[in-house]
Amino acid sequence: MRILFAASEMAPWVKTGGLGDVAAALPIALTRLGNEVKVLLPAYPGLLKDFSDAPVVAELAGLGGTLPDALLREARTPEGVGLLLIDSPALYTRGGNPYLGPDGRDWPDNVSRFGLLSRAAALLASESSPLSWKPEVLHCHDWQSALAPAYLHYLHTQPAGVLLTVHNLAFQGKFARDTLEGLGLPARAWSMDGVEFYNELSFLKAGVQFADWVSTVSPTYAREIQTDAEGMGMAGLLRGRSATLSGILNGIDETVWNPALDPLLPAPYSQAKPEGKAANKRALQKKLGLEVRDDVMLFGVVSRLTYQKGLDLLAQTEAEAALIALPAQLAVLGSGEAALEEKFSALAKRHPGQVAVTLGFDEGLAHLIEAGADCFVMPSRFEPCGLNQMYSLAYGTPPIVRATGGLADTVIDLPAGARSAGTANGFVLGPAVPPALIEAMRRAHAAWRSPALWRQLQANGMGSRFDWRAPAGQYAALYRRIRRPAA
Ligand code: ADP
Ligand code: GLC
Repeated sequence: MRILFAASEMAPWVKTGGLGDVAAALPIALTRLGNEVKVLLPAYPGLLKDFSDAPVVAELAGLGGTLPDALLREARTPEGVGLLLIDSPALYTRGGNPYLGPDGRDWPDNVSRFGLLSRAAALLASESSPLSWKPEVLHCHDWQSALAPAYLHYLHTQPAGVLLTVHNLAFQGKFARDTLEGLGLPARAWSMDGVEFYNELSFLKAGVQFADWVSTVSPTYAREIQTDAEGMGMAGLLRGRSATLSGILNGIDETVWNPALDPLLPAPYSQAKPEGKAANKRALQKKLGLEVRDDVMLFGVVSRLTYQKGLDLLAQTEAEAALIALPAQLAVLGSGEAALEEKFSALAKRHPGQVAVTLGFDEGLAHLIEAGADCFVMPSRFEPCGLNQMYSLAYGTPPIVRATGGLADTVIDLPAGARSAGTANGFVLGPAVPPALIEAMRRAHAAWRSPALWRQLQANGMGSRFDWRAPAGQYAALYRRIRRPAA
């Protein structure tokens, strides 16, 4: 099948979270299954630099409203995935984060930046595409490309089938009503069964309304978002789509996240040869200025520091006291909300040698924490899928998670007092409150002190397969249901 992806991130060129990893790995897995995948992306500077010889294959002009004309360039990754890059210097040639300016606020022209991405996706998936390559399915990811199915509905007659994958319902791409005209949508799109959502224009709502199928990144999250408690205002709409809404658990890219082959680790290790893990722990402790000790448990965190991730629970005084008293060490890598960043920095200052906090985005350190920590902490309030708990399982670093979304679908709890691990591979807490997190950390600490039990727990994680083959097969089955070549 010919599949057009539309996404705002793709690792390693642009990544702020799991979406970047998925947009990179899923096309490779689909290609291996014999499909032809092209990924449509804004031509961010990093992409233009690495693919500086990418030829112009079309001019995107007269897109409607105030959307600027742009050039479309085509390239190919070493793995055989096509790249279609929307070259619009005015919109995409700038540094930093794809969504936020240097002041930490959304770029003021995000509506045009991602309006253009959505508009271009729709065009390429329609009868009016300037390319001879006509996809049978347009696969949109998150709000940034979710306006595409609305464009197809209002402006085109013979569109490809459209799948919208919701990676995170919390980001809905909401803009003021007066952006409708500039986006080149007709006035009649402003309605309850159009792009209007509580008196704003929402890209994500438009996608949920008009895609042929809506998927999300775990089966549990697919159920949760249909409840009023977790539907973020869209539960009713999503319930209305229950017959064409499903969850496919993400995979992990085992060429990037594999402790036996990871070039970012000082010592490789595997389930069969686990000894190297201890050397990674020492390297991590040394690098971060923690006391270099095998006999103290080390908890690790790699995360966006936002409300979603629940790490404020760990930064509270109660949890701090419990951690210090165990005693245990803590290594945090993250960036996000300023208040939480400050809390973690202060925590590290109070406990030099025992708590280390690195603010920023650091791929190498993320890998070293996954490998060097004994246990990974991820108490998310909600989690559509989550990749870090799967990386942790693969790296023999049993995770502590909340029972929500993809975390509930991947982590099996080791109950207090268990003498053997059975099928357990980590620790699960219920409510998002500090006492529940502390109880889980104490439980993990007790299990860690029992080496035979801990080895079983690690082996259960390291022995599971989380690669993309099976999920890619599930996506292919979905594509077959909705495919419709644009004429
Ligand atoms: P989300 O997409 O909600 O942030 P996921 O668990 O799906 O959560 O994916 C997060 C991805 O981003 C992982 O690959 C993780 O290693 C990476 N990541 C998050 N924060 C950082 C950071 N500060 N430095 C390096 N990598 C990070
Ligand atoms: C989102 C979610 C995360 C998921 C990722 C990739 O960022 O927050 O849970 O793993 O997308 O699908």
